[in-house]
Amino acid sequence: MTVSVPGLSPGSKSATAAAGTVGAMEIDYSWRGEFGNAEVNELHAEAFGHRVLEDDWSTQLERHSLGWVCARDGDDLIGFVNVAWDGGVHAFVLDTMVRASAGRRGIGARLVETAVAGARTAGCEWLHVDFDDHLRSFYFETCGFAPTNAGLIKLV
Ligand SMILES: CC(C)(COP(=O)(O)OP(=O)(O)OC[C@H]1O[C@@H](n2cnc3c(N)ncnc32)[C@H](O)[C@@H]1OP(=O)(O)O)[C@@H](O)C(=O)NCCC(=O)NCCS
Repeated sequence: MTVSVPGLSPGSKSATAAAGTVGAMEIDYSWRGEFGNAEVNELHAEAFGHRVLEDDWSTQLERHSLGWVCARDGDDLIGFVNVAWDGGVHAFVLDTMVRASAGRRGIGARLVETAVAGARTAGCEWLHVDFDDHLRSFYFETCGFAPTNAGLIKLV
């Protein structure tokens, strides 16, 4: 069901950016930042351990997402997260990913923090996520998600 969200206007889905330093790296975090399909496909393949696909992230996210966050070290896309949307007050964190060579430096935490801020600013009331057991401390302790019951059916 699609509901109208008070305060949620096309303008509130606009891009925002912030910077942070990790060691010698100056990382730029941008909500709805520009990206190319090839760089996201390459990062996704590395993060989730599969061959590089040719998915059209650009079209998919413009159609179905509230937003996304790009983390860049200069021109290099080193982190990305997608925030899918029900068209109302629920948003869903998907495909949080950080380049392995930049891992465990707080970049994943900043990606999610930027996603939380973007979803809140857009007028969403709930941000959902699901994940494997080994990421419990990342999502619960680092990112501040509360444990809840959730369900999943594999459709194919
Ligand atoms: C999950 C992921 C995005 C985390 O990014 P990151 O930049 O390395 O995370 P952070 O540095 O912000 O981590 C902060 C804290 O979260 C926890 N954490 C992060 N990654 C973890 C992991 N793989 N295993 C266990 N704890 C982890 C740790 O407590 C960490 O603090 P520490 O490094 O001081 O121990 C990254 O490991 C990744 O891309 N993984 C592969 C793709 C994936 O599985 N994504 C999740 C889909 S739901």
